[in-house]
Amino acid sequence: MDAPITVVGGTGYIGRRLVERLVGRGASVRIVSRQARKKGDLAPTIEHVTGDIEDAVTAGRAVEGASAVVYLVGTTSARSEREFYALHRDAPARLAAAARRAGARRFLYVSAMGVAPDAPSMADRSKAAGEAAVSEAFPGANAIRPALVYGPGDHFFTLFSQLVRSAPAIPLIGGGRTRFQPMHVEDAAEAMARVLEDARTAGCAFELGGSEIYSFRELIERMCAAIGRRPWLVPVPFLLAEAGALATQWLPNAPLTVDQVRLLKTDKVIRDPGGAPVVLGVRARGLEDFLAGLSR
Ligand SMILES: NC(=O)c1ccc[n+]([C@@H]2O[C@H](COP(=O)([O-])OP(=O)(O)OC[C@H]3O[C@@H](n4cnc5c(N)ncnc54)[C@H](OP(=O)(O)O)[C@@H]3O)[C@@H](O)[C@H]2O)c1
Repeated sequence: MDAPITVVGGTGYIGRRLVERLVGRGASVRIVSRQARKKGDLAPTIEHVTGDIEDAVTAGRAVEGASAVVYLVGTTSARSEREFYALHRDAPARLAAAARRAGARRFLYVSAMGVAPDAPSMADRSKAAGEAAVSEAFPGANAIRPALVYGPGDHFFTLFSQLVRSAPAIPLIGGGRTRFQPMHVEDAAEAMARVLEDARTAGCAFELGGSEIYSFRELIERMCAAIGRRPWLVPVPFLLAEAGALATQWLPNAPLTVDQVRLLKTDKVIRDPGGAPVVLGVRARGLEDFLAGLSR
């Protein structure tokens, strides 16, 4: 069998689609995630390593004999700086160093649109630090920065469509003015697969965004129109949202953390007008077809 491509987080929302694509192109894939998988649930060309990627033994098993490694682990709900940096910088940097020693040719670090060393949120700052640490540990590594990724079962429209069906009002943090450039999950996975298969892309950073830009308010309004609901949209200033999150974020199942509010303070849109979808030749589909398919 060929040297596998390791996808850390290959059971997640984006990871599952990437794995399907790689397998469809004839690659052997090794998935790493904490939850065990039954062997019968996986295609014969997929191997599953069960473990926490912060653990050195799991990281060693992840990179052994791999031709490429994709790091798709991330969070927006950590409560401390230590947690964010452990998952977004330290674990991937150790993995990248191990991958390099093990002879992998490619390393893709999946970051996020809008990351910067001085970003308001720890999630974005720690991912910026992760990009730098990974590229030092693995020269030629790629940073992949997806915008909001949507599609069936996504993290955004699934949550908000449930919310508008059950609640009379939806808060618009920061007035709902944050701008997003959503990309369909299949297009994001295709872009990542293309980066992996084209050696000329080594060392490049790619911002993955769709064809249109929407404010948060527009996204919610379009979704509500598609599912036939008219909730009350309530603008909430950032300061008030942060104070509310600060008071509740330590409760189990807290709906919002302070850092998630801060994530909304910067737009999540492509900064480079050339745009990765153009460079990679991925024709990003529009959001409207997906919204039209949401059940009323
Ligand atoms: N979805 C989006 O809209 C979006 C937008 C921009 C950027 N991103 C970034 O893209 C990446 C993937 O996002 P996603 O939405 O696909 O995430 P996801 O659905 O939450 O999946 C995360 C994956 O990582 C695994 N995982 C989590 N912690 C782990 C650990 N400590 N050790 C090993 N495996 C671990 C999970 O499986 P287990 O729980 O079984 O371990 C799962 O397979 C993240 O870095 C995210 O920040 C996502």
